Amino acid sequence: MVRSYDDPLKRQAREKLRHFIARKLAFKKPSDIKVVCFPGAEVEGEEALEVKEIYDPLGIPRKNVVGLEKEQDQFKRLKRANLGIILTEAPMSDLDFFTSTPDKFDVISLDYQGHQDESETKTLEQIAGRQVLSKYGILCTNYAGQRETRRLQSNMLIGFTSGAFLGHGKGMGFSGFSVDEVVNFWKQKYESNEDFELSQLRNAITFETLSTFLKGTENVSTPKLFQKHPYYEQLRELIMTLPFDQLRSAIIGSGVIEPEDYGTIERFDVPKRLLVDSGILTSAEYEERVKGIDDVRREMFNHIVQIVAIRKHIAESLGLKKRERGLADFIGYVLNMQGVKSYFPRSIERYSYTSNKNMLMLLDLVAFDQNENAYREFGELISYGPQTGKISFRDQAKKDSLMVRKRILGITRKFIALTSQAVPERIYLGSSWVPPPRKERISKEEAVYLLSGGVPCAEIADTYAPFTVGQLAAFRAHITMGTYKDKTPPPNS
Ligand SMILES: C[S@@+](CC[C@H](N)C(=O)[O-])C[C@H]1O[C@@H](n2cnc3c(N)ncnc32)[C@H](O)[C@@H]1O
Repeated sequence: MVRSYDDPLKRQAREKLRHFIARKLAFKKPSDIKVVCFPGAEVEGEEALEVKEIYDPLGIPRKNVVGLEKEQDQFKRLKRANLGIILTEAPMSDLDFFTSTPDKFDVISLDYQGHQDESETKTLEQIAGRQVLSKYGILCTNYAGQRETRRLQSNMLIGFTSGAFLGHGKGMGFSGFSVDEVVNFWKQKYESNEDFELSQLRNAITFETLSTFLKGTENVSTPKLFQKHPYYEQLRELIMTLPFDQLRSAIIGSGVIEPEDYGTIERFDVPKRLLVDSGILTSAEYEERVKGIDDVRREMFNHIVQIVAIRKHIAESLGLKKRERGLADFIGYVLNMQGVKSYFPRSIERYSYTSNKNMLMLLDLVAFDQNENAYREFGELISYGPQTGKISFRDQAKKDSLMVRKRILGITRKFIALTSQAVPERIYLGSSWVPPPRKERISKEEAVYLLSGGVPCAEIADTYAPFTVGQLAAFRAHITMGTYKDKTPPPNS
């Protein structure tokens, strides 16, 4: 296995980030730009190539760069190299750092070697939740985009579908489709034993980043707007204590949500429908997966109910008519985004390349904007007291004015466009993988083991000899039928 990060494609990827920072932070003096990154130190003499090839040429002082490293050997090498960047006292993971740092950064660059898994997602939640990225900050992520397990594939399926519904997936085949249509699409694929189109699903990585940053502080605490809702405690109590199958009648019975609104909430219970109805997981497997995260599911549900409930509170406070429910929704969205300090993407670039370790890497560059000016404009029309929860028209004399409504709709339309931006195509930069003279041979048992773990047939056939995609698909059909019972790891794993 090659160990160096000094390879031409990695250099190109760094160049993309350097140009992106130069263009998107052009309004800031380099000496004011604060950075946190994984500098890397795989080999003696090749420490912190990211600092040398990106931040040095941009004129960002090394004392403005925090370098994170979780491995002991790499950390020691970085320390010995005495580069003048800031290092933590001891090796530290990104999650620990972002959960505790009191600082804000203009550039956060997370150059991983692996997938966007649970820990990486939690890191994004901490960055957005604790507002560690500055208001015009740039986030760079680099994740592996190959050989995902079935578990990761199902996470991507959820992320991809939710993102497509939000509108990020325009042109990717799903926007405008109903949940039923999407579920049927995956179900057919699953039943005919086809590989999922992983290249499509991997867009979930970008969607996950965008939706996490849109949630802002909501990633770490319940929005104030909800807590000030008169029925907050009552709804929370119901959701947190009742079994899921009794919630529907209890919430409708509470009178806080209109029966027809409950449909909106159910639409968000997409994960279960997607995974179980499409046949990807059995009901038992699904229950097993959500067991530990039931609280998280309840929190999510709680938030959705609150979002719908807040509409009623807004409509009553502003004296809106029943047919103005759309307006109440928009006002709720904007007040919520302001309260949670959402980050909106102002520019996105996406690249991929094959590394010298033969891994497809997915590089996302996103420049954000917290759009404070738009809230100011909104505040001229609607007054909201975050401490009291009171909402009213700023100018009571104009509370029935059509003009005021038009201006509110204009502002909210801008926000909606920002939250549902389509992501651009990923540009493939090339490969620095030098294939070995011959592919490694694996046995049938090893192939079955990889397939059971969810590795797609095409990837196994690409990497190993001697099985063809067709043969591997036949093995997989037998796995599904339960022909091979013994899934113990192969001898060399
Ligand atoms: C891909 S390398 C960085 C390469 C460098 N950015 C470059 O351009 O050459 C990733 C480095 O970050 C470290 N690392 C990976 N995940 C990490 C995490 N979650 N927290 C802290 N360090 C991490 C790895 O040990 C490795 O040294």
